[in-house]
Amino acid sequence: MLVSGSLSSWTACLGLLSALSATFAPAVAVKEHDWKKCHQSGFCARNRAFADHALTATSWESPYNILADAGSFKDGQYQGVILKTINDAGETVRLPITISFLKSGTARVTVDEEKRQKGEIELRHDSKARKERYNEAEKWVIVGGLALDKNAKVAHQDKNQLTVKFGPFSTFEAVINFSPFSIDFKRDGETHIKLNDQGLLNIEHWRPKVDKPAEPEKEDDGNDTPDEEGKEEQTEKKEEPKKEDESTWWEESFGGNTDTKPRGPESVALDISFIGYEHVFGIPSHAGPMALKQTRGGEGNYEEPYRMYNADVFEYILDSPMTLYGSIPFMQAHRKESSVGVFWLNAAETWVDITKGKDSKNPKALGVESKTSTRTHWMSESGLLDVFVFLGPTPGDLLSKYTELTGTTAMPQEFAIAYHQCRWNYISEDDVKEVDAKMDKFKMPYDVIWLDIEFSDDKKYFAWDKHSFPTPLEMGKHLASRGRKLVTINDPHIKNVADYPVVQELKDKDLGVHNKDGKLFEGWCWPGSSHWIDGFNPAAREWWVSLFKYDKWKGSMENTFLWNDMNEPSVFNGPETTMPKDNLHFGNWEHRDVHNLYGLTFHSATFEALKSRKPGELRRPFVLTRAFFSGSQRAAAMWTGDNQADWGHLASSIPMVLNQGISGFPFAGADVGGFFGNPDKDLLTRWYQAGAFSPFFRAHAHIDSRRREPYLHGEPYTTIISAALRLRYSLLPAWYTAFRHAHLNGAPILKPMFYTHWSEEAGLTIDDQFFLGTTGLLVKPVTQKDQTTQTIWIPDDEAYYDYFTYERIPTVKGKNVTVDAPLEKIPVLMRGSHIFPRRDIPRRSSALMKWDDYTLVVATSAKADEPADGDLYVDDGDSYDYQQGQYIHRRFTFDPAEGTLTSADFEGRNVASIKEGEWLKKMHQVGVDKVIIVGAPASWAGKTTAKVQSEGREWEVKVEFTPAEKGKAAFAVVRKLGVKIGADWKVVF
Ligand SMILES: *[C@@H]1O[C@H](CO)[C@@H](O)[C@H](O)[C@H]1NC(C)=O
Repeated sequence: MLVSGSLSSWTACLGLLSALSATFAPAVAVKEHDWKKCHQSGFCARNRAFADHALTATSWESPYNILADAGSFKDGQYQGVILKTINDAGETVRLPITISFLKSGTARVTVDEEKRQKGEIELRHDSKARKERYNEAEKWVIVGGLALDKNAKVAHQDKNQLTVKFGPFSTFEAVINFSPFSIDFKRDGETHIKLNDQGLLNIEHWRPKVDKPAEPEKEDDGNDTPDEEGKEEQTEKKEEPKKEDESTWWEESFGGNTDTKPRGPESVALDISFIGYEHVFGIPSHAGPMALKQTRGGEGNYEEPYRMYNADVFEYILDSPMTLYGSIPFMQAHRKESSVGVFWLNAAETWVDITKGKDSKNPKALGVESKTSTRTHWMSESGLLDVFVFLGPTPGDLLSKYTELTGTTAMPQEFAIAYHQCRWNYISEDDVKEVDAKMDKFKMPYDVIWLDIEFSDDKKYFAWDKHSFPTPLEMGKHLASRGRKLVTINDPHIKNVADYPVVQELKDKDLGVHNKDGKLFEGWCWPGSSHWIDGFNPAAREWWVSLFKYDKWKGSMENTFLWNDMNEPSVFNGPETTMPKDNLHFGNWEHRDVHNLYGLTFHSATFEALKSRKPGELRRPFVLTRAFFSGSQRAAAMWTGDNQADWGHLASSIPMVLNQGISGFPFAGADVGGFFGNPDKDLLTRWYQAGAFSPFFRAHAHIDSRRREPYLHGEPYTTIISAALRLRYSLLPAWYTAFRHAHLNGAPILKPMFYTHWSEEAGLTIDDQFFLGTTGLLVKPVTQKDQTTQTIWIPDDEAYYDYFTYERIPTVKGKNVTVDAPLEKIPVLMRGSHIFPRRDIPRRSSALMKWDDYTLVVATSAKADEPADGDLYVDDGDSYDYQQGQYIHRRFTFDPAEGTLTSADFEGRNVASIKEGEWLKKMHQVGVDKVIIVGAPASWAGKTTAKVQSEGREWEVKVEFTPAEKGKAAFAVVRKLGVKIGADWKVVF
């Protein structure tokens, strides 16, 4: 949901708005100037200036040196000290550095600041803030993978450097240069990543506040206008190289809000070079291409660094490095047959500059043409410098190592990957029931109906509006009778009002976020005056969990699930619509230290709450979150926030969702139809078609938009949208299987071309088409108005078939092919050599499909003897019994040479030995209804039967063969195989 109006208008009319219902707040497009540019964020400006100086000075030497004698290497870890020279007199500050070589082959570099003797450094006297660099991000983010590689060995050491060999077969190497400090990370002898390559390392050490005599008064205003002009002047004046800009050290203002900075400047910044890599990806969420752009100006480039500072940036600008609602500071670089990456573990406001260029040093060395490299400059406002380095070599390696650290996507509730019907707001129980009935009437499957903030009693989220939702349990049961669920919203702001027990408890137990003076923080959000739960406080989390018990949250039941919105957190009257940075969290950490983690603490508490609604009941939660950070994938799905009903936003949703997937958080989607505005029927239809191929598939709409439930649009739209919904439902088994792989090893669910075809340089940056899981389905949704054909880039020599017609598409590796894409058609190709599962009987919800038989589709390879394979994963879709082996995971193989199709356990388990619980037993009744072999061998002409072998028996089934004609491939259909889906079986053709 949105906030409305610019900050200044908010400040001006808060009184008025609090009187009005938020319902009537006008929708206003985001104003870029309501959010900081780098020059308006003190530490970003200082670090950019530092970089400008370092990169243009005739002689620049980074003032950071490793104290050679102080270091030691033991058990896979180097511990030492960096000395930072802080003035011409040669005074230094000690910065302990730890370089850890992990068993996974990942390296981690952590730099802290040595705690001074008490009294040596005086921070601002009146502050309660913790005087320590924030060092608890790891506690929230990292769940494994930290075991040290005891086999890592020092290969060389002298007074200038230390070389450590580590990783698989010791093929990785870290060359730690002491003076100035830098590290080269090599794989197979070649440098891929360099830290402090350009000497931009900058750790602003703590220093005492010295009151200087009369500096010219800069920005103190007392009025609300952002003082951009003053700032610009300041930036321009900053030409003197040596003189640091101290104006924002101890205080800075933006948009009428002043940030007191009790600890003074303490940013951490570092340059990271990707040597020989022209493209970098990741660091979501931004509305722009998947391959990140340069940020230091020039044609087609951005002027601003990519920013990560979770914010309520509604109706966001497309093609922009502006921050959005969530942040994952994980960046990867890909080139032909090589992938490397870094993960910058810091939860404070972070900016990343990106530039590219040919290597200037020794361009002709070795006689090879110099390659383009990408140089990045990371800047965070506070905390530790903590960076993980991944040396690949494959994209899959990056994802599996990154998710070993931060966790993989949780196995979802099965309904959660079906279709969700949402709107701000379904206004009453009757409204809900009517939408529910209409979906049935128009034979449109759906699983979940959602209630936005208006369901609550005046934005007291645990209390239902008594007039509109008098009998929520009855409504819940009504939905449950068709296997459907209800999701209601629950935000981190707690209405500050006298008659609300929840806020009373929060106050009594002191569980909220505090302001800089240590008092309960009060701000404005949907309910008006509110307090914010402090998700960092263990007692607050415990309390939050207790609020969701069935007997405590009246009106909730087994099919009620949760949506956490506004958890950046959005604070309408706060700086940049969020919390003041000098607010205090549990442990007296400043909000500035933990900002990007706040949303995670909240949605993960909700996740825990849903796991313990009733003693003895352990079910998978479903929580949707808007704000996120690395690790959020373990507990939530995300959506791309408050987008707009226009074609640009539809197109932009695809790279955004792909970027989430390659960043370890694949359970992602965009509001179908666009949140703001009214999509025309074509746009809405195309959006449903794209949404049907998005991991999270939800339609949502702003309260001021016209009703747009999918059955409202008349023919041909109703039929076309129904077809898209049904296509999603029939492919649910394939989606669920893709989630299983994501859960096991962090694989994206939608795979960009570089992920599946890493040798094809031309495909590296393609971000508008993708493969779905391991199905071989190549999808490129139509995202342009009036477009009736689609151009798809073909990555290889395989056969490609039209999903709907079985036409063999005449494709050429590395070339585009144009396919028909009239409004009723989603461009979906089946790549040869794959098998994927479906369930083809149309039903009203996924729950009702639970015991349906499967269809298997085999797309044969272009090469006559090449097998096709694929898999199916299924479990009860609800409990954690799968962790005890209560699942079916089959591998299907079609061998054209042998003329066989076999099903075997995916992991080679002895299926007969599994002790079957209730669900597995019931799955005995589920079989294979149909096998379709697209591109069946021509030699099958005349074949009418095949033999089936399973569980010690053999029987005959009918084969219907249709020869190739008019561009269509030959295909064969076998019906009613008579096998159990969980059993081993073989069809001999
Ligand atoms: C394929 O088409 C896209 C436009 O959809 C174009 O940008 C690209 O250059 C084309 N690639 C080739 C290899 O022709």
